[in-house]
Amino acid sequence: MITRSRSRVLPLLAVLVVVMATTSAWAADPPVGDANAGQAEVGSVCAACHGADGNSTDPQYPKLAGQHAAYIEHQLESFQRGKRSNSIMSGMAGMLSQQDIANVAAYLSQQKTSPGPMDTDQVALGKSIYDNGVAAVGLPACESCHGPEGLGDSAKLYPRIAGQHAQYVVQVLTGWHNGQAWGDGPHAKLALSVGQKLTVEQIHAIAAYVQGLNALK
Ligand code: HEC
Ligand code: HEC
Repeated sequence: MITRSRSRVLPLLAVLVVVMATTSAWAADPPVGDANAGQAEVGSVCAACHGADGNSTDPQYPKLAGQHAAYIEHQLESFQRGKRSNSIMSGMAGMLSQQDIANVAAYLSQQKTSPGPMDTDQVALGKSIYDNGVAAVGLPACESCHGPEGLGDSAKLYPRIAGQHAQYVVQVLTGWHNGQAWGDGPHAKLALSVGQKLTVEQIHAIAAYVQGLNALK
């Protein structure tokens, strides 16, 4: 009895598993970004805050030009899922399809980041934290993840930060310092611990240094 029903059910199950594996692999295939379509979408919606080429002029809005496509996609999906929350961006990201996200990410990642000015008063403290971290509180050097020139690492989803507006960097690090995480994934926890190990004074110095990073090197 048992052997007979098994012999019918097992092949059927095997077929089902194969079909499911194929369809879910299809569904998981990310759409390929079209930079031209992305340019039009950025121009009509995002440019008001982030600039037509992703170089925002208002320093409360992050520059997106030259950011890794994978990181832009990851953050837009985070806003969509409510893991990273922001009253403006949660609404903006909610309007985008997966294809739109791939398009804007392709376009923005191909633009050149405009250099930011370096605040010379803050260079020494900012550079020391960037290059060496703060051993007393177990803070690793920023460069160990973001790279010596602040270019990040696309494969690891470590963002490019060179040239980013100091005001935005202060906003982000202060949020983490105060315990506002971007979700509960390993990267969100890591970023939270970076913010919490920095003092307010160190946050301002490191932000000023990061803003001028691509002008310096
Ligand atoms: C009305 C202003 C506004 C508009 C329009 C806008 N954004 Fe934003 N965007 C913001 C703000 C503010 C933040 C910072 C959010 C935060 O602090 O968490 C942000 C953050 C982002 C981030 C995260 C960047 C990072 O470095 O972590 C991405 C990606 C992004 N926006 C993409 C877009 C795209 C794509 C569009 C157009 C579809 C768009 N934004 C439209 C205001 C705007
Ligand atoms: C161990 C790796 C690691 C170290 C060390 C590290 N970061 Fe990061 N950083 C990350 C990751 C990962 C993210 C993205 C967080 C996420 O996706 O939730 C990030 C995000 C950021 C962002 C937000 C960029 C944006 O536009 O979204 C800033 C700013 C930043 N880091 C600055 C710093 C500074 C300054 C230091 C040194 C004090 C530092 N980080 C040290 C891994 C690191």
